[in-house]
Amino acid sequence: MLYTHARLATFAAPGRYGLVEDGALAVEGERIAWAGPLAELPQAWRGQEAEDLGGRLVTPGLIDCHTHIVFGGHRADEFEMRLEGASYEEIARAGGGIGSTVRATRLASEDVLLEGALTRADALIGEGVTTLEIKSGYGLEAETELRMLRVARRIGELRPVTVRTSYLAAHAVPPEYSGRADAYIDEIVIPVMHEGRGLIDAVDGFCEGIAFDTAQIGRVFDAAASLGLPVKLHAEQLSHMGGAALAARHGALSADHLEHASAEDAAAMAAAGTVAVMLPGAYYTLRDTQAPPVQAFRDAGVPMAVATDCNPGSSPLASLLTAMNMACTLFRLTPEEALAGVTVHAAKALGLADRGTLAAGQRADLAVWDVETPAELAYRIGWNPLHARIHGGTKC
Ligand code: NIG
Ligand code: FE
Repeated sequence: MLYTHARLATFAAPGRYGLVEDGALAVEGERIAWAGPLAELPQAWRGQEAEDLGGRLVTPGLIDCHTHIVFGGHRADEFEMRLEGASYEEIARAGGGIGSTVRATRLASEDVLLEGALTRADALIGEGVTTLEIKSGYGLEAETELRMLRVARRIGELRPVTVRTSYLAAHAVPPEYSGRADAYIDEIVIPVMHEGRGLIDAVDGFCEGIAFDTAQIGRVFDAAASLGLPVKLHAEQLSHMGGAALAARHGALSADHLEHASAEDAAAMAAAGTVAVMLPGAYYTLRDTQAPPVQAFRDAGVPMAVATDCNPGSSPLASLLTAMNMACTLFRLTPEEALAGVTVHAAKALGLADRGTLAAGQRADLAVWDVETPAELAYRIGWNPLHARIHGGTKC
């Protein structure tokens, strides 16, 4: 397939967005065979049947690198409680929060979980998402954690989207282990990681006062390393716990949230190649006031990704375009940083080198937009300009 007369945001060519005006893009099978200015299209492709995109923008297919879209129930009651003055941490300590979704998820069948998750996956796919990370973490016992991972994998079979799973049993201490976090890690988190190895692409954790400390997460990360699994971490969201530095020490793919991260954390992450994942949906929902240290990440050269964090509590957001808008308005990312954050840097946050840019050899995961300039993608709110979506070379 050959696409012509497209504006290409390649993130591979030099300049802002790696923009190529009046570009062409050739696809062979699942891969991009060639991308560049139409005037330079190699002879082999000339005269081939082509789809004229009429000047539309083509970007790499979007990548949502941090979601919790598999869950039971909802938490609208907690939304009301927070509006009446309760904080996220107070609700969590009183047995609500993640604990409330754990109760609902344990009770939900695989089909019920799948049905709910598909509606959220479809919303993301409808905005040009072609790769989607999905976490477990609302089971906190073997059966439900594995059920969540199976549901996540089924989404990738049922929909034209690549799913990457993260095992997040170290999300909260379940009620049956109340006050015994270390035992929970030894008896559940690590053994279930071994049991579910074939369903897991990466291991995640929540390093926070209401969850696990750095020593506990360190043990989870050591277990992941022994299985050859990469790690990532919810770090420095509500307080500074040392999670970002821990993630960097373990060569984590990403550290996520990071509202309370420091310039030292940024330096450690840069040295380790750990991506900083910005989750403005959670910042917005919790009415946080401390934004992540974006300038420190820029200064240190830490790649920044942007994700929805779609979950029933802190970020009931199933729109990656809206997350891009929030990252710009709330965190002052540039529209170019926001688009890099859902393409090239999001791919890095998942350890995927074969996508996120438009270049020969990359997967042909593309989004075609009815916009003139790439900044338009982050600029509008609730306004989806997707024209077409191509997953592994197939329009769908
Ligand atoms: O990424 N920070 C921890 N985990 C989720 C919230 C999950 C929930 O509240 O259900 C997050 O924000
Ligand atoms: Fe999260």
